Amino acid sequence: MPIDLEALTNDPHPVLRACRESSPVLWVDELDGWLVTGYDEAVQVLKDSGTFTVQDARFSTARLTGESMLTVDGAAHSRHRGAFAAPYRPAAIRQRLTEATRRIADGLVVARADRASIEVLSELAQPLAIAVLAETLGLPRTSAAEVVEWHHLLAAAFEADAAGRPAAVPTRALDELRSRVLETVRRTEASPLLDAATSGADPLTVEETVGNLAIMMIGGVETVEGMIAHAVQYLWRRGADPLAESPDALDERAVDRAIEESLRIEPAAARLDRYATTDIQIGAAQIRRGDLVMVSVSGANRDPRQFADPDTFNPDRANLTRQLGFALGPHYCLGVHLARLEAREAIFALRRHLPEAHLDVRRSETPVGLIFRKPRRLTLAVR
Ligand code: HEM
Repeated sequence: MPIDLEALTNDPHPVLRACRESSPVLWVDELDGWLVTGYDEAVQVLKDSGTFTVQDARFSTARLTGESMLTVDGAAHSRHRGAFAAPYRPAAIRQRLTEATRRIADGLVVARADRASIEVLSELAQPLAIAVLAETLGLPRTSAAEVVEWHHLLAAAFEADAAGRPAAVPTRALDELRSRVLETVRRTEASPLLDAATSGADPLTVEETVGNLAIMMIGGVETVEGMIAHAVQYLWRRGADPLAESPDALDERAVDRAIEESLRIEPAAARLDRYATTDIQIGAAQIRRGDLVMVSVSGANRDPRQFADPDTFNPDRANLTRQLGFALGPHYCLGVHLARLEAREAIFALRRHLPEAHLDVRRSETPVGLIFRKPRRLTLAVR
């Protein structure tokens, strides 16, 4: 079945529906691999990292940033991920970052309160994600402005590579990260994050630590922007605001469910790539060893066999927690609790300080992107 890549980038859901109806695991010539749009099939691929691995020379991440938890599987993956797990556990995030995240989100929104509008991506979501990341990493002598710069250098390399233009390794960002890591290792009062990575029974090397920090800088910004933008888009859509009818418009659980449902219906990380380590059959698909297998999270999250009436935004779904926006299996998002905290605080800050805000449809766009998805601009009129 021929696929229109432009449609898959700009308006993917009808294309993904047609793919799934043809076969939940479909060979796509234009992408030179298998596209998985069925929910059960996506779960099977993501859970089984022995058969569907990230560890393949074609996966550009390792070339661009060095080895990290996202480029290896098996025991090596457990070693990398184990080093960073503690500071990202829910209690650690709650204790260490709730107040800081709220302060940063409030500050960004209050700064727009006397203006006519706020552009949610550039004036709230991106600066929030970057400032929180700077806070999380706790690197010595590092300002949010430097983290912004490193993020842009890393993101530009990834974007060029994903667009089929072989990218140069983002050397300067990696060199600067390396020098901060070395400094942290030498200091006595290290950050909780790097402390965990560079001590213990089997500490990571400086290069391995840098690789993982670089992954967090990509994984922790682009996706947060998409997640916040999509949640705002659904919540502020005129006449379709499920919270407007809620007795307490700032009810935390209602906001969390709305965020989760917006992640189901429009996941910020839309496609996850794996490589088959062996010949394997899924349904009618005969996958060969070495084949690229692309899990379409956007497709799986709208599989009607799993989510009834999948194109409708419904935060009251009983099985909402099954959505795959943070993936599943060994590479399940490390930053999931931080991401949810950021989205919640961004929405609370908007509701607290800009109660009259409404979506300015003329200055807002729908999400685009093949792998990372977000709108180019999303504007709330403040009055
Ligand atoms: C809404 C925001 C976010 C979304 C939608 C998201 C989504 C994802 C997804 C889908 C994966 C799996 C990738 C794969 O299996 O190929 C992943 C992995 C990862 N995410 Fe996130 N992420 C978000 C925020 C964050 C944040 C804030 C951080 C924090 C630094 C983070 C750090 C990571 C890391 C380190 C991995 C690799 C985990 C591993 O390989 O074991 N993410 N994320």
